[in-house]
Amino acid sequence: MKLSIVGSGYVGLVTGACFAEVGHSVICVDNDQSKVKQLQAGQIPIYEPGLEELIKKNVAAGRLTFTASIAEGVQNSEVVFIAVPTPPREDGSVDLSFIEKVAREVAAVLTEYRVIVDKSTVPVKTGDKVAQTIARYNKKKVEFDVVSNPEFLREGSAVADLMKPDRIVIGADSEKAVKTMRAIYEPFKAKILVTDLNSAELIKHAANSFLALKISYINALSAICEASGANVEMVADGMGADHRIGRAFLNAGIGYGGSCFPKDISAFIKISEELGYDFKLLKEVEHINAHQRERFLKKIRETLWVFKDKQIGLLGLAFKGNTDDVRSSVAIELAQQMLKEGAKIKAYDPKAMDKAAPLFKSKGFTMCASAEEVAEGADAIILATEWVDFKTIDWGSMASKMISPILFDGRNLLNPDKMSKFGYQYFSIGR
Ligand code: UDX
Repeated sequence: MKLSIVGSGYVGLVTGACFAEVGHSVICVDNDQSKVKQLQAGQIPIYEPGLEELIKKNVAAGRLTFTASIAEGVQNSEVVFIAVPTPPREDGSVDLSFIEKVAREVAAVLTEYRVIVDKSTVPVKTGDKVAQTIARYNKKKVEFDVVSNPEFLREGSAVADLMKPDRIVIGADSEKAVKTMRAIYEPFKAKILVTDLNSAELIKHAANSFLALKISYINALSAICEASGANVEMVADGMGADHRIGRAFLNAGIGYGGSCFPKDISAFIKISEELGYDFKLLKEVEHINAHQRERFLKKIRETLWVFKDKQIGLLGLAFKGNTDDVRSSVAIELAQQMLKEGAKIKAYDPKAMDKAAPLFKSKGFTMCASAEEVAEGADAIILATEWVDFKTIDWGSMASKMISPILFDGRNLLNPDKMSKFGYQYFSIGR
């Protein structure tokens, strides 16, 4: 099928590459000319495992092209996906101006029936607004349908998530559009769930909020474990073995970050409020998440006494492992707080250093070429991102480079007994 995708960010680019991989002809549209040129020259602006190979392969096969012209995309495809950013506003609500602009632009160049699909995460009832906008700005009064098809991919495993999804959600109020959407997803051999437009939009916010709730739940339990001498991992294993609960997303740590959870949870609270419901449960999820990093900082302060003039080694800057994304990264927020209190920080991340560098203006902050360099002369090391690479570091040699081997593991990545054997004073979360 002929498809176009407006917006070549994380979601748009990965979606475009995967659609091309299953045989569709895909035009990726982006209004950033320099990004389009970069993509046309074979340079991929984001790091995502497997993405570069996938894009190169499908560009070479002639199934994937890039353009800055929305008209070119809309006129040469049967279905137009919208995958533009929906950033948060100051008050936690969603800025839908990019979606609205694309809706107007699509409307202006619509000459025959098209299915217009929203892939960006949006509050419930946005699809109705998109349909109204297209109807208003589409002077030729061409027929069209609006569909909600939320994306559930995780950064770091986006290609794999998209190629083998748990489910595909298609929210539409038109049979014709559902038929077209089914045809697009037929090659993925995945479970397809057809709903009305509003329910599909709600599923995305509801699912992300539930996952964040799981994380905050285990993080709250980690505080109880610390106070009672229980082990949060054992508790999570015991709970997770119940198939109704499941073990996934029960890893205690310094809290969730990233470009999705923080913004989606506050957006869901906000839209619920607008709809007349005070979602106190989700407000508490946010509160626990913020409190978790405070608890972690308190633990560090209690051990080091003061941050001023302390040399802190920071392992991890990305918001989670396997990504270069530093948006709403708890690691960065922790670093900024410690710098504010006078600490000096030497940091290392396998992939996120380029993206993190502009966020640090302080002279007290330096990037290192390796984990070993981070340990050199450090008063303590903080592990803030769950990179598997950090498991295989030579922790014995790291200890010998430090002033005194103190390690705060904010992701429960390492084995406490092993770390004690290396001579560390080792602190983790809830165990
Ligand atoms: C998330 C959703 O998983 C995905 O379905 C949606 O489309 C976008 O938002 P992503 O933001 O890429 O994906 O990251 P995810 O792997 O879900 O992790 C989010 C945050 O939660 C990270 O900061 C991670 O460190 C943290 N986390 C995750 C925990 O603290 N504990 C866990 O058990 C799992």
